Amino acid sequence: MCDRVAQRYTMDNLFEELIGDGEIFANKEVLRPTYVPEHLPHRKEQIKGLADILSAALKEETPSNILIYGKTGTGKTSTVKYVSNELEKMAQKRGSNCSLLYINSEVFDTQYRLFAYLARVFNRRVPMIGWPTDMVYSEFKNGIDAEKRCVIVILDEVDKLVSKGDEALYILTRINGELTNARISLIGISNDLTFTELLDPRVKSSLGEEEIIFPPYNAAQLTDILDERAAMAFYDTVLDDAVIPLCAALAASEHGDARRALDLLRLSGEIAERAKSKKVSEEHVRSACQKLEMNKVVEVVKTLPLQSKIVLSSVLQLSKEKNKRRFSSGEVYNMYRRLCNHVGIEALTQRRVTDFISELDILGLVNAVIVSKGRYGRTKEIALSVPEECVQPVLLEDYKLKAISTIRVRTQITL
Ligand SMILES: Nc1ncnc2c1ncn2[C@@H]1O[C@H](COP(=O)(O)OP(=O)(O)O)[C@@H](O)[C@H]1O
Ligand SMILES: [Mg+2]
Repeated sequence: MCDRVAQRYTMDNLFEELIGDGEIFANKEVLRPTYVPEHLPHRKEQIKGLADILSAALKEETPSNILIYGKTGTGKTSTVKYVSNELEKMAQKRGSNCSLLYINSEVFDTQYRLFAYLARVFNRRVPMIGWPTDMVYSEFKNGIDAEKRCVIVILDEVDKLVSKGDEALYILTRINGELTNARISLIGISNDLTFTELLDPRVKSSLGEEEIIFPPYNAAQLTDILDERAAMAFYDTVLDDAVIPLCAALAASEHGDARRALDLLRLSGEIAERAKSKKVSEEHVRSACQKLEMNKVVEVVKTLPLQSKIVLSSVLQLSKEKNKRRFSSGEVYNMYRRLCNHVGIEALTQRRVTDFISELDILGLVNAVIVSKGRYGRTKEIALSVPEECVQPVLLEDYKLKAISTIRVRTQITL
């Protein structure tokens, strides 16, 4: 009886404990990716460059098109949003008919979707599917041209749009020739530094009239960014001195990604909070880093093609069956055939499987090294380079691979 009362008591307090005022975060929201900071340290040059070009819009001229490049987390989206806000404020003050339209090309990733969205922004009734694209484009063109104005269209993640063909961009870079009243300028933002190789040279030169590069942040710059944000996010004296430099150093050692540095800091705080610690320590940062690494592995494994997942499952299965970590390509191939047979999928040749192994190696999921076997020549040895418990559940999530979980483990019998 006593036990039951005690149990009810703890369950009743379940949420109270979870939402109770923590002693770590003063405002966690400022560490989230959706927060747009008012101050962007170490981006003065890019802000100034962008403002210089866009200021033409306030003088009733058409700004040049701009291409912005930089790896993820280098502040591209935040900088463009910041400059957009400032420009709109100034345009309002001066009474200029100038507006900015932010479009995430990952969402509007086809010509139709993009033009339909643009037409709707300019008050045209266009369905999101079903019309001929020409008609949608006409609606958008007439809608925008109904007034004398300058519209700056920001295409964030523009590489996602281009991966389905560059026709939409081609049309947009030519549209001013067909407009009487309105003028359009384009800002393309890309994480992929090589994406212009996919573009028609005419689109490339027109979109890239001006280019702005966002280099990765170094550890000292990330420290400045984190310092500013931490001052708002955490209560005073909660962070051990080593926490921010460590988050900055860990993020800088990858590719200077501010998003990752902020994620690390937020997660470190959450881990400390859950552990009921009054302070965030270096230990919490290390656990946060491990957790983020695991999340990354899970994401990578999820998006592998089926055959590649089977190859990875083969290495995993071998690790379970044999009392060693490294396996020859022959062993992996034999296991691969066995698994293909088990799940009812046609096996590829050993050569193709070797290619998949090299890809898994590049992704950091396995480690493949050439070893010399003396007079028996050289062979490749393959080992799993991520924890088994982190990959296995993700592989089995693929319904085509579910059957692998029923495979019999052949234990080795040594006489
Ligand atoms: N210079 C900076 N100052 C403050 N925060 C920054 C800075 N650069 C990036 N961030 C933050 O890092 C995260 C990623 O920035 P974002 O602009 O989305 O990068 P990108 O678009 O290049 O991937 C956001 O949370 C943003 O607030
Ligand atoms: Mg971005």
